[in-house]
Amino acid sequence: MKNILVTGGAGFIGSAFVRHMVSAYPEYTLIVYDKLTYAGNLDNLLPVHDEPNYRFERGDIADEKSVRRIVELYEVDTIVNFAAESHVDRSILEPHAFIHTDVVGTYILLEVARQLGVQRVHQVSTDEVYGSIPEGFFKEGDPLEPNSPYAASKAGGELIVRAYHQTFGLHTTVTRGSNTFGPYQYPENWRLSSSPKPLTTAPCRFTEMACKCAIGCMWMITPTRWTWCCTKAPQGKSTTSVAKTNARILKSPI
Ligand SMILES: NC(=O)c1ccc[n+]([C@@H]2O[C@H](COP(=O)([O-])OP(=O)(O)OC[C@H]3O[C@@H](n4cnc5c(N)ncnc54)[C@H](O)[C@@H]3O)[C@@H](O)[C@H]2O)c1
Repeated sequence: MKNILVTGGAGFIGSAFVRHMVSAYPEYTLIVYDKLTYAGNLDNLLPVHDEPNYRFERGDIADEKSVRRIVELYEVDTIVNFAAESHVDRSILEPHAFIHTDVVGTYILLEVARQLGVQRVHQVSTDEVYGSIPEGFFKEGDPLEPNSPYAASKAGGELIVRAYHQTFGLHTTVTRGSNTFGPYQYPENWRLSSSPKPLTTAPCRFTEMACKCAIGCMWMITPTRWTWCCTKAPQGKSTTSVAKTNARILKSPI
């Protein structure tokens, strides 16, 4: 393992992986490949921006020509696929993007990996593929019963991963993580966390007006993201409306 392509590496969990790997393994080159959707944020990668073993390339994992170019350019031997549309509520409003990235995009990565002899593909999946359980825990071998377009698209992606291993002998691995929360997370996902109370009671340090409605709660979880949310609203939304949405999210129990 030498040149690791980290797809979705500008997102919440992918960027944590990159920040860790870049400093812990200076002998590896980490190439982040990310479409920079609403959820991707280059600020997440600022801590490694100047490191010699870090590179960034913007692109879509469903764009075969682009993926192929990057894999060849950097002589990629390992792919870790964090790239996904990852928000359950959005998948109900707009399933198309989920099928595009989580199913087609995963297939493209596998196909390019197979053709160019990439040594290993790791697929970051989710426990959502199991569906819901009234109480207790799922076991690894439990049937996949996804309930949302998000969960179904992730289940589809990982089944294609399985097929590429069984059919073509590609070295693949899959992890099904549970809900995660912490620094650098996009605020809309905070509601999904299971923590019963805010992580900090420290006072808010934001100075911008738009951020003031959000004081007193969760700022310490992701100060960088809050700054970004308030200064750069997603397309079609005003900064104020984003701040209001964020304030509502912060008020809801987590
Ligand atoms: N957050 C959680 O609680 C959780 C739990 C279990 C599994 N996961 C899985 O972990 C992975 C990362 O989750 P996250 O919360 O960091 O997600 P995120 O939404 O914060 O980040 C996703 C990243 O993928 C990028 N991306 C989206 N579509 C792309 C495309 N077509 N091509 C290239 N890049 C694209 C986005 O720009 C963003 O940077 C996902 O695969 C998700 O399914 C997340």
